Amino acid sequence: MVKVSTKLVTWDEIVEWSMGLARVIKESSFKPDVVVAVSRGGYVPARLICDFLLVENLVSIQSQHWTEAAKVAERAIIKFPYTLDLSGQRVLLVDDIIDTGDTVILARDFILSEWKPAELRVAALQWISPVAKIKPDFYYIEVKEWIWFQYPWTRHEDTVQFVRRILLEEKERRREWTYDEIRAAFEESYGIFVGDAYFRLALETLVELGVLERRGDVYVVRVT
Ligand code: ADE
Repeated sequence: MVKVSTKLVTWDEIVEWSMGLARVIKESSFKPDVVVAVSRGGYVPARLICDFLLVENLVSIQSQHWTEAAKVAERAIIKFPYTLDLSGQRVLLVDDIIDTGDTVILARDFILSEWKPAELRVAALQWISPVAKIKPDFYYIEVKEWIWFQYPWTRHEDTVQFVRRILLEEKERRREWTYDEIRAAFEESYGIFVGDAYFRLALETLVELGVLERRGDVYVVRVT
């Protein structure tokens, strides 16, 4: 049985953490002219930071490492390396979490060499200090033991992947599941529950993806 230590993060926590992070930035006296969100995880925190610090300028850069929830992909890449003139600007680069640090390092280095800001600082809601290759200039929570944070903006995507992983792992042992059985296995593996609306939507998506077939009240894992 898959076991991943996971914490369900609520929207309220995101607001609280972003407000806390904005306070840390404010107390440092750093005043950004432009906020750059690391796409996709940095979007919501970056937008909230703009709100709390009253910053109007918000752009983004897509630096991606993790293609599957809680699994490491090969390497980080800048997806759309467009040109932007940030000369003379103080930039705040914002991400949700600094885990290995690879994506934010890549984004930072790309911005410094291609967009040429006067200054650049890095901020993240969370920093996993034992595994991260960099320490952000600003962070709100230092995480001392690696876990998967199930953020509200990846709830559907994560649920689909988590359920898929359980079903495929158990495929040789069982193919037929009821909703309650999948839910129980999910809770046992991840120690969280995302709520019925998200759970039903994930199962519907897995049917659309051809992983599951629905036969009345029973879900059948399809052999591919
Ligand atoms: N993205 C990269 N690392 C993560 C983690 N530990 N939790 C949630 N999202 C992540």
